[in-house]
Amino acid sequence: MPRRSLSFCLAPDTASASLARERVHEWLAELGWSPDESHDLVYAVSEIVTNAAEHAFVEAVGDRRDPPSIWVDCLVGSHDRRVRGPGKVDEVRVRVSDNGRWKPVAASGFRGHGLALAKAFVDGFAIATGDRGTTVDLVSRARTTTIRRPNPRRDR
Ligand SMILES: Nc1ncnc2c1ncn2[C@@H]1O[C@H](COP(=O)(O)OP(=O)(O)OP(=O)(O)O)[C@@H](O)[C@H]1O
Ligand SMILES: [Mg+2]
Repeated sequence: MPRRSLSFCLAPDTASASLARERVHEWLAELGWSPDESHDLVYAVSEIVTNAAEHAFVEAVGDRRDPPSIWVDCLVGSHDRRVRGPGKVDEVRVRVSDNGRWKPVAASGFRGHGLALAKAFVDGFAIATGDRGTTVDLVSRARTTTIRRPNPRRDR
């Protein structure tokens, strides 16, 4: 039976994003998603986890007892009619949250595109930021890109 949800916690470091990619990809494969269907969401999760590892814990948070953490919680889409029965799940939700601190966006040349890219790669995107951390919610629907075959009569 495929898992209907997946939750894991990562320490913020240089391996966090690749671990998140591997686990989310594996879970989507269990749900029947092909690599083609899953790579947009896996990419978005990777950007968001990278952000948490890179930006959320730059300032020491004095009175916090919990260790710096990044949580990834994945669920099959709750309004998917097929969730309770057999068959392929076609929508999933992923929440990435951290217990760091939001860092105000600084304008800087070639950086500052990760959030916009992540948003462009999913069907639903919401972010909540603050002094107690950041939560990003992603929704994704399985889809493959259809490559149109050239039509010899039209594409001359
Ligand atoms: N989890 C987070 N905790 C704290 N600040 C964050 C977090 N995620 C994003 N930010 C802030 O939002 C900014 C924009 O993030 P974004 O991913 O768009 O760009 P970036 O990480 O600076 O560069 P890149 O284009 O390489 O991703 C970051 O520079 C940071 O200031
Ligand atoms: Mg980024």
